[in-house]
Amino acid sequence: MTEDSEQVRAHVRRRYAEAALAVSAADGGSCGSGSCCAPTGEDGLFGEALYDPEQRAALPGAAATASLGCGNPTAVAELREGETVLDLGSGGGIDVLLSARRVGPTGVAYGLDMTEEMLALAQRNKAEAGVTNAHFLRGQIEDVPLPADSVDVVISNCVINLSTDKARVLAEIARVLKPGGRVGVSDVVAEDRLSPGERAERGNWVGCIAGALSVSEYAAGLEAAGLTDVEVTFTHEVADGLHGATVRARKPESLRRELPLVGATAAGACC
Ligand SMILES: C[S@@+](CC[C@H](N)C(=O)[O-])C[C@H]1O[C@@H](n2cnc3c(N)ncnc32)[C@H](O)[C@@H]1O
Repeated sequence: MTEDSEQVRAHVRRRYAEAALAVSAADGGSCGSGSCCAPTGEDGLFGEALYDPEQRAALPGAAATASLGCGNPTAVAELREGETVLDLGSGGGIDVLLSARRVGPTGVAYGLDMTEEMLALAQRNKAEAGVTNAHFLRGQIEDVPLPADSVDVVISNCVINLSTDKARVLAEIARVLKPGGRVGVSDVVAEDRLSPGERAERGNWVGCIAGALSVSEYAAGLEAAGLTDVEVTFTHEVADGLHGATVRARKPESLRRELPLVGATAAGACC
């Protein structure tokens, strides 16, 4: 990782630690300066408003309040009973807890996050929700601490745009998915017309804007990782030329061990 990438990652971690602490301080949901994925004053574009009231009611208040996503990946992924789900950048745990409920006692939901404060918040939300088939892991989405071919569905909510090595994240998704497994992600995605410079003009990195991939870049990245049936669909505009979007893809039945083993053994389980 270059020094610049390390600085971006440290900045991202700091901002989301602040966001977690703000929620933990009870009346939060605010991200301090408003520079996380739920900018103040943009109601309905980010966060808990993107979940239906029934889903929100089924969770502890802090899990919903801590939602900093740009969609509802549990709806995108159409989860089924007994499945194993992995949420990349699980934050306060809202999508992990909803997934755990959806897959039921024969399934399991993992959340992966690099920020201690978010993991602590997610653990508290899990305990409050009384969910037992959810597990939160500490680590990087560029280096997933799960074995190859072990997950039915990878979800993520407004996190891949934050990575400084998206090719590696997409390769990790392809590695951990079982053959035939699928991707159901919400993310901020740019129209192809926007250059990286124009994306940066519209928002910063930790606000999920500057690091957004374009539609073509996302599709090409997923295909380069070996995934097929790629669909990127805009759902709502969050800035000029930048949209909340759903991203779907599938790992072919035939894509087995020829993929590179990136990070198969890295990072420790937290809880
Ligand atoms: C915008 S928040 C989204 C949280 C959650 N998905 C939600 O919808 O509320 C981004 C989360 O991703 C985590 N994150 C960002 N970059 C990461 C990385 N490279 N590896 C692991 N976690 C990361 C942050 O710590 C933060 O909790």
